[in-house]
Amino acid sequence: MLLEVENLNTYYGESHVLQDMSVAVDAGEVVALLGRNGMGKSTTLKSIMGLVKPNSGTIKYKGTSIFGHPPYRVAKAGIGFVPEERRIFPNLPVLDNLRMGIKHGRHSSGGGRNPWDFERVYKHFPILKDRSNQKGSTLSGGEQQMLAIARTLMGNPDLLMIDEPTEGLSPVMTKEVRDVLAEISEVGVSILLVEHNLKVAMSLADRVYLMGKAHLGYTGTIEELDANPEIRARYLEV
Ligand SMILES: Nc1ncnc2c1ncn2[C@@H]1O[C@H](COP(=O)(O)OP(=O)(O)O)[C@@H](O)[C@H]1O
Ligand SMILES: [Mg+2]
Repeated sequence: MLLEVENLNTYYGESHVLQDMSVAVDAGEVVALLGRNGMGKSTTLKSIMGLVKPNSGTIKYKGTSIFGHPPYRVAKAGIGFVPEERRIFPNLPVLDNLRMGIKHGRHSSGGGRNPWDFERVYKHFPILKDRSNQKGSTLSGGEQQMLAIARTLMGNPDLLMIDEPTEGLSPVMTKEVRDVLAEISEVGVSILLVEHNLKVAMSLADRVYLMGKAHLGYTGTIEELDANPEIRARYLEV
């Protein structure tokens, strides 16, 4: 496994928001982490990234513990994170936003793949090439999401963790973001995806983890989830 998280416990003050949460991503996989609002999906990603400090459990990346590591070290190890707020630098041009994503001395380790650079990013995100001299703030919501993804790729992650990438986007932009994630996966980047749009998640993922309140409720392949309306009703549909 590329990423192995086991029995993670995280608190916000007294509130025990992750209770023995486990999730794993193998190299080359797209894994979806799904569940209703407030179950702990974002906290799971933030705990892995070191943005929130888990109390106990194991987090292994490429077989080495990254538990308790600060975010910059987790990023340097090869995990890229696009948070729900898709933070970009509104006053900087697109080009400089992308430049901010470069992690010096980090090359993607996967079998001889080219690292991400401007040329490669612009190939997958032509809209950013067109807008390269425009300030981040002038981009639409969907374009800002593209920029947030592209900037993270500039750090050459082997694993991309992305939180609700299609939230608030039009159907057209939702499809574009979906398609760009499919492309990224095809060139060998593993993805851990939190997504409220079940269709998008099912069209991208190999396997799913469904969260109940603070804990893992169900895990299986997309085919298994597809064949199991009872599980979908328990963990997903409102
Ligand atoms: N910074 C915080 N401080 C206190 N409680 C929080 C904080 N962030 C999230 N929570 C709570 O933790 C639980 C899990 O939140 P979250 O991980 O954001 O869920 P999800 O991403 O599945 O919607 C929720 O009950 C939420 O209200
Ligand atoms: Mg969330």
